[in-house]
Amino acid sequence: MNNDSEHRPDTLQTVLRYHEVTKHHIHGYASGPGYLDWDTQPNPFRRYAGARLVPLAHVPVTDEPLYDDAFVRGRIVPAPVTLQTISQLFYDSLAISAWKSTGESSWALRVNPSSGNLHPTEGYLICGPIDGLCDQPMVGHYAPKEHGLEVRAEFEPGVWDALWAATATDRFLVGLTSIHWREAWKYGQRAYRYCQHDVGHAIGAISIAAAGLGWQTRILDNLSTDTLALLLGTGRDDDAESEEPDVLMAVGPYDEAVQAIGLHEDQAQAFGTLDWRGRANQLSPSHLDWGIENIAAAVRRPRGRPPYERLERPSRSGSLGRRSVCLRKVIRQRRSAVAMDRTTRITRDTFYRILQRTVASTGSIPFDTLPWTPRIHLAILVHRVEDLPSGLYVLVRDASQRGTLEKAFTQADQWRQPIGCPSQLELYCLTEADTQQTARQVSCSQDIASDGCFSLGMIAEYEQPLERHGPCIYPRLFWEAGMVGQVLYLEAEAAGVRSTGIGCYFDDDMHRILGLQDRAYQDLYHFTVGGPIEDTRLTTLPSYPNE
Ligand SMILES: Cc1cc2nc3c(=O)[nH]c(=O)nc-3n(C[C@H](O)[C@H](O)[C@H](O)COP(=O)(O)O)c2cc1C
Repeated sequence: MNNDSEHRPDTLQTVLRYHEVTKHHIHGYASGPGYLDWDTQPNPFRRYAGARLVPLAHVPVTDEPLYDDAFVRGRIVPAPVTLQTISQLFYDSLAISAWKSTGESSWALRVNPSSGNLHPTEGYLICGPIDGLCDQPMVGHYAPKEHGLEVRAEFEPGVWDALWAATATDRFLVGLTSIHWREAWKYGQRAYRYCQHDVGHAIGAISIAAAGLGWQTRILDNLSTDTLALLLGTGRDDDAESEEPDVLMAVGPYDEAVQAIGLHEDQAQAFGTLDWRGRANQLSPSHLDWGIENIAAAVRRPRGRPPYERLERPSRSGSLGRRSVCLRKVIRQRRSAVAMDRTTRITRDTFYRILQRTVASTGSIPFDTLPWTPRIHLAILVHRVEDLPSGLYVLVRDASQRGTLEKAFTQADQWRQPIGCPSQLELYCLTEADTQQTARQVSCSQDIASDGCFSLGMIAEYEQPLERHGPCIYPRLFWEAGMVGQVLYLEAEAAGVRSTGIGCYFDDDMHRILGLQDRAYQDLYHFTVGGPIEDTRLTTLPSYPNE
C-alpha cells in the first residue's frame, strides 16, 4: 500500500458495511420508509433568506455549437467569462428544463437528472469580478427556480489571487454539495448512493455545458472535505438539513495546461472568516434519521492526501463524425424515458458510437474532468440492435483492465469482438442469448430495462481502489458512474432515442450473472437506452415564465 492508503481501517469497514446493507435483494429491499410521507416532503429548492439574488440571463437555445463539436477539444473557441456565458453555463447544466403538471400538481424537471426527481445536489460559483455579475470576487449559490445567484459572501481580490497556484485569468470554480435528506425522505438508507450518482450526473452536465463554451473542467481533488466546506460556506451547525460538500471544479479555457490548475489549500482558510450572508431555508418540518451522516463522515477526504494518480490512456476513440444535431437542444430536451416501446431498434453503428463516447481516454470530454484513472466498465445486455446478436457484452473502459476482467467474469462463454466493431473499441460479446428477462429481473423487475435497445450495469473496480485510496474513493466511483450515465442520456437524445438511469437494481444477482465472486468488482449503477413511450397524461409547461 502507498501513502495514499493511510486511512483508518474502521472507516473502510463502515464503507463496506454500508454498501452491503444498502443492497436490494429480490426477497428484501434496503431499509427505507416504504411509503411517501407527503407532510414532510422536502422543498426541492434551497434559498438563503437575506442573501441578495443576482438574476442570470435567459440565454435562448441556439443552433450552434453542434453536439459533436463539444466533444472535440479545440473545435469551439473559448468564450470570455461574462454574465452571459456564466448564465449559459448554469442554464445548460443545473437549470429547470420544463415543468410537468397533472390535475392540481406540478413539478419542475431539470437539465441534470436526479433519482426520484428529488434533486439533492446544490451548485455554487466562486469567481473573481465579472462584468454585470459582481464587482468583487464572490461565492454565489445557484437558485434554479429563479435562474439566479444568491450572493453568499464577497471577498477581496487579494484573497482570490492568493488562492490559485497560477494566475487566475478567465478561470472560476464551481462547487457541488448534497442535501442527503432530500433523497433519504423517499429512499431511506440507500439514499447516499443516489446522491452520489446525482453528483456524477451534475459533474457531467457542467463539464459538457462548459465544453460547449470552449472551456475545460477539472476536479480539484487535492482539497480536503473540510476545506471545501470553508470555501462553499456549508459548515453550518444550525441548518435543519445538513449540506455536505462534495466537489470543487476549476473551469477555464480549453487550451490552458490542466496541470497548472490548482488551489493553495492554506489560502482557503481565509474563507473561514468571511461575512456569510443569508440563512438556509428549512426544507421539511421534521425528519427521519437513516444514518446517512455516518457514511458521509467515513468518506470525507482528509487534509494532506496526495492527489489521485491518473494514468494517461492514449486517445483511441477516433473521430465520431459531425452530425447536424445541436448541443444545447440535446442538453435541454434530455428526459428520462418512463417506458420503452419494445420495438425500436438502433443500428449497430449507432450502438458502437454511443459506447465510444463513454470511453475515458486522455482528453476525452467529459471524463478528463476526473483526476483518477477510469474505474468503471459496462456489462451490457443487448436486446434490439440491428445485425447484432442479443446477449451479454462487456465494454472495457480502461484497456489495461481487460485481462483482470476476463478472469473475474467467470460466466463468460467467450471474449469475442462483435462484427463491425471499431477495432479501438474494447467491446466483447461474452454470451449470445435473449437477455430481456434477466435484464428486467436484475433491475428490480423494471420493464424499462428489458423493453429498450439495451440496458447495462456499471461494474466498478472496487476493492483495489478502496484499499489504495481509502474510503474517499467510494463516492467518487459513483461520480464516475453518474458521468457515464450523463453521456448515455445525451448520446441517446442525439441518436433519436431516450434513456433512463436505474438506481434500483439487485447488486448480487448481477454479480452472479457475470460470475463475479469476490469484492474485486462491484455493480454500481444500471442504465437503459431505447425507444420511449411518452406519458400523454402529463402537460409540459415552459421552464421559465417568459419562454
Ligand atoms: C441516479 C438515478 C437513479 C434513477 N433510478 C431510476 C429507476 O430505478 N427507475 C426509473 O424509472 N427511473 C430512475 N431514474 C430516473 C429519474 O426518475 C429521473 O431522472 C427523474 O424523475 C427526473 O426526470 P428527468 O430525468 O426526465 O429530468 C433515475 C435517475 C437517476 C439520476
